[in-house]
Amino acid sequence: MEKIYTYIVSHNERLKDILTQYLAEFPQLSVVGNIEDLSTLYNEVSSLNASILFTDMEYADISVTSKIFQDSPNCRIIAITENPNVSFIVNAVRSGVREILAYPLIRSEVSDVVGRVLTSLSAKNIEQSKCKMITLFSNKGGIGKTSIASNLALELAQITKENVALIDLNFQFGDITTFMDLHPTFDISYIFDNLNKLNKDFLLSSMEKYKNTCLYVLADTPFLRNAKTISPKQIAKFFEILKESFSYVVIDTDASFDAKTVTTLDYSDIVFLVTIVNLPALRNCQRCLELFSKLGYDDDKVQILINRFMENDEITQDDVEKLLKKKVYWKIPNNYFAHMAAINKGVLLSELNPESNVAQSYKELAMHVSDSVFSTALINKFVPDSEKRLSNILEM
Ligand SMILES: Nc1ncnc2c1ncn2[C@@H]1O[C@H](COP(=O)(O)OP(=O)(O)OP(=O)(O)O)[C@@H](O)[C@H]1O
Ligand SMILES: [Mg+2]
Repeated sequence: MEKIYTYIVSHNERLKDILTQYLAEFPQLSVVGNIEDLSTLYNEVSSLNASILFTDMEYADISVTSKIFQDSPNCRIIAITENPNVSFIVNAVRSGVREILAYPLIRSEVSDVVGRVLTSLSAKNIEQSKCKMITLFSNKGGIGKTSIASNLALELAQITKENVALIDLNFQFGDITTFMDLHPTFDISYIFDNLNKLNKDFLLSSMEKYKNTCLYVLADTPFLRNAKTISPKQIAKFFEILKESFSYVVIDTDASFDAKTVTTLDYSDIVFLVTIVNLPALRNCQRCLELFSKLGYDDDKVQILINRFMENDEITQDDVEKLLKKKVYWKIPNNYFAHMAAINKGVLLSELNPESNVAQSYKELAMHVSDSVFSTALINKFVPDSEKRLSNILEM
């Protein structure tokens, strides 16, 4: 059995002794209690496939945790603090802390936390090779799909350090090239014109690597193309090769509900149904949920994502959940100025203004999506022949 290196960062000898004693019940852990300095620790952790880090917040600054988390997504960080108040918890979670333990330590709490962390690490290993395809959908335009898709994709690439694809599936009025100021040599139209040659190498060489990241972008076409000439079978072939080539695929769709869209939704592991909080948008959302249920998608696959959320809105989250009969998965705050500044500069908001409330929300969403415990629950129940199923539903 491969041991999981478990580090305890603290100058409190008593804490280290007790924790080492408690951890003895987990034979798979190899506990390291004496850390010479934080930079050696940082290098060690980043070279490991899986590790656990207990960090005593009296000793290590939260920025250290944040740095380790950013560069070593397979390290699970557990913070220990004497004072686990709300603001501490919020900051800790934002800097990548997975679990929090109150000091003095209680044996049963340590056991529970370590149990959960070990489950998430083993799920991560099992799931490592499996691609997750995430689609942003709304049957209303201008709701924020492109903003969310592009920022989420960038955050996923930065957090996981795995290859992420961002696909603009709009054949007529795509925006990703504008949002990211890209001038790609190839676009999605080129891929569909060369589908018979398509394999992983061809795909990677046709996509635009975004700056110095693991994000690859397949851009929208610069001219109008009739997507009806592309069959669901062709789209399916494209997704199969995408899924072989990337760890995460993020798809920005248009608002039409045609066979191309249904094939995309079928192939997706997570469908984020994006809405804003107003009655017409929510009614549309309701209708989409009905369609999704007719298409056979289960409750976990489709998740509600509220965009432009405002705490003091007349319609509350509770109202939304009652109306849609479904929990809201995520809320992205309203921040018009931050978005406009980013769009006008052709830079993603997550890069231009990483400290803003929206950028933090995109980042935390990416953390959730890449969380292996959450992801293992999402088994794609793909049912083929989208065209036939769509026509059955539309006739109903
Ligand atoms: N959280 C937010 N807060 C404030 N403004 C936002 C937010 N998200 C998006 N916007 C703004 O809403 C507008 C539409 O966003 P976006 O282009 O991402 O939507 P879309 O659903 O992709 O639209 P389309 O249907 O045209 O493709 C943009 O001006 C964007 O800046
Ligand atoms: Mg768009």
